[in-house]
Amino acid sequence: MQLVFASNNKNKIKEIQLLVPSTIQILSLDDIGCTEDIAETADTIEGNAMLKANYVTEKYGYDCFADDSGLEVEALNGEPGVFSARYAGEPKNDENNIAKLLTNLKDVKNKKANFKTVICLNSNGKQHLFTGIINGEIIEERIGNNGFGYDPIFVADGYQKTFAELSLEEKSNISHRGIAVKQLITFLQKQFR
Ligand code: IMP
Repeated sequence: MQLVFASNNKNKIKEIQLLVPSTIQILSLDDIGCTEDIAETADTIEGNAMLKANYVTEKYGYDCFADDSGLEVEALNGEPGVFSARYAGEPKNDENNIAKLLTNLKDVKNKKANFKTVICLNSNGKQHLFTGIINGEIIEERIGNNGFGYDPIFVADGYQKTFAELSLEEKSNISHRGIAVKQLITFLQKQFR
């Protein structure tokens, strides 16, 4: 069967293709001729994942899954959340986003935060949501060069290193995205063995 991953990130597509049962062929947005930007206009991470998956299923008729992620900071009522990519405005810039977050947390004691990924799967006329969460805290200075986004200022609970100090493999083992993907794969393995 064919399953669209609502993404054009070649690395993400390759990674997922290796993990799903071999009876499933993963297609990218390019593969189905979807070249338009799907507007991420929902006000929650779940909402954006659903919006992207529904767009593909409704407009192109494919079973599909889409993901959306963000960083939620407790003392900031869950900000930047769904606005994580563009927290400091357009065009999106990781450095500026980190600077804005550190400024907003300057005199705040509670540095608890979590990364969250939601994957929305539309399959056989049904919708399924898979959520991955990793708890941790924001530190006051940037450490590490790996990864992207807020990785240099996020330390997962039980760890001494930031996400930007972990290898991709180490991070994937514990990350919000890794957790959500594992749930998706387990579901697909049960359904399409
Ligand atoms: P996306 O939905 O995966 O594109 O994530 C949206 C935004 O959330 C990214 O642009 C980052 O700012 C932030 N983010 C999501 N996942 C991570 C992560 O694993 N590390 C650091 N930042 C992340």
